[in-house]
Amino acid sequence: MSPPPQARKVFVKSFGCQMNVYDAERMKDVLAGEGYGEAADIENADLIVLNTCHIRERASEKVFSELGKLRELKDGRRALGKSTRIAVAGCVAQAEGGEILRRQAAVDIVIGPQSYHRFPELLRRSDNGSRIVDTEFPVEDKFDHLPAPTTEAIRSRGVSAFVTIQEGCDKFCSFCVVPFTRGAEISRPLARVIEDARLLVDAGVAEITLLGQNVNAYHGADETGATRGLRHLFERLAAIPGLERIRYMTSHPNDFDDELVAAHAEIDKVMPFVHLPVQSGSDRILKAMNRKHRIEEYLETIRRLRAARPDLALSSDFIVGFPGESDADFEDTIGLIHEVNFASAFSFKYSPRPGTKAAELTNQVPETVKIERLARLQELEVAQRREFNQATIGREVDVLFEKTGRHPGQIGGKSPYLQAVHVEGPVNLVGRVAKVRIVGLKPNSLTGELV
Ligand code: SAH
Ligand code: SF4
Ligand code: F3S
Repeated sequence: MSPPPQARKVFVKSFGCQMNVYDAERMKDVLAGEGYGEAADIENADLIVLNTCHIRERASEKVFSELGKLRELKDGRRALGKSTRIAVAGCVAQAEGGEILRRQAAVDIVIGPQSYHRFPELLRRSDNGSRIVDTEFPVEDKFDHLPAPTTEAIRSRGVSAFVTIQEGCDKFCSFCVVPFTRGAEISRPLARVIEDARLLVDAGVAEITLLGQNVNAYHGADETGATRGLRHLFERLAAIPGLERIRYMTSHPNDFDDELVAAHAEIDKVMPFVHLPVQSGSDRILKAMNRKHRIEEYLETIRRLRAARPDLALSSDFIVGFPGESDADFEDTIGLIHEVNFASAFSFKYSPRPGTKAAELTNQVPETVKIERLARLQELEVAQRREFNQATIGREVDVLFEKTGRHPGQIGGKSPYLQAVHVEGPVNLVGRVAKVRIVGLKPNSLTGELV
């Protein structure tokens, strides 16, 4: 028996990147319109959405083990007379479609990332027990149809919010599934982004992170129909009173124009942190990856960024063990990391993905070599991160406070360089920026004192 609409609960479990985190919120917004409140835990949900990631094999295999557990949960609830619907969303849904229904009988709905505005309709169609797949790339733009979050929903999500401004990718790096799972690159119109931002700021948001698979390739239409880049969007956002900080990710090295670089010198609200994945330090491997730039060009972009903003913190993504990667190629990657000095980095063993060019290459690197290279790279990354954090000790930095800490009297937030900082301080600082002197280093955060 289905519960009355107003008592329905949804639980969204997300994997993968920030875009999935943002999409989860938008799904909750659209489901709220259907009477679904948020379930505090998965056991009490009438609708469970697995918001999945397909980027590496481990990520997408995890979905099926999760679904196995959800099947048991569904059976257990059925024994108590409660019905449960299970939906698979995100990039595995897009990539596998109906195959998911075949592999797991407990799944009711498979919904691709471009169809979230259709969630209510799919739910209604599945009311009679039909199993439904919607992985079309619809002609209409989901953002035109997704409802705005309520003030209450925004407040519950904290003072730092995501806004997707660009989605999809046309770059087809030879290892990557994103162009297949998220479709062609589209930029949202400027006015719509500004509207979203104003709504968030009016509800108390102080920091917005603009999201896109290639966020610095943003080219949205303005009110006159003219195409505008990310720099212009920054300027418009910076004019919103109450918005303290602007961040953006993920950038591609090929899309950093001078205007955007200069924004880091000229717009105070743009934070001095850039996530700029390079993947490899070897020109040979970059070519095989279809990254379409050379290491020297990457280094030149970093020089330009650091000239504009000397204290800029940089982070990157690396793949080790791409097909054909030799010891010498890997040493080039290590050399690049030494040369740049990253504040943080994410690194992964190459994972062959179905449908991508690189998966067909015959010169795959043995797993043992990948493991070894990853360990060496990560050791260096940890050392550089520690060094970067160490260098902030004794400095005064602005911290945007986001929440109360684990101990009473403690509050936590982020430095401009995206470091977690904890201080003893009053709760009413949450949502505001205050000067902090950094005094200590913990494994995953810095400690400081209010100035
Ligand atoms: N759009 C971003 C990255 C998106 S995916 C960019 O162009 O850089 C996030 C990261 O996952 C990538 O930067 C890459 O390091 C990693 N990744 C993507 N495909 C992968 C694969 N097949 N195997 C291992 N890592 C992968
Ligand atoms: Fe994937 Fe490359 Fe596009 Fe990034 S730029 S999303 S790595 S295809
Ligand atoms: Fe994963 Fe899709 Fe993001 S594959 S990394 S959830 S765009």
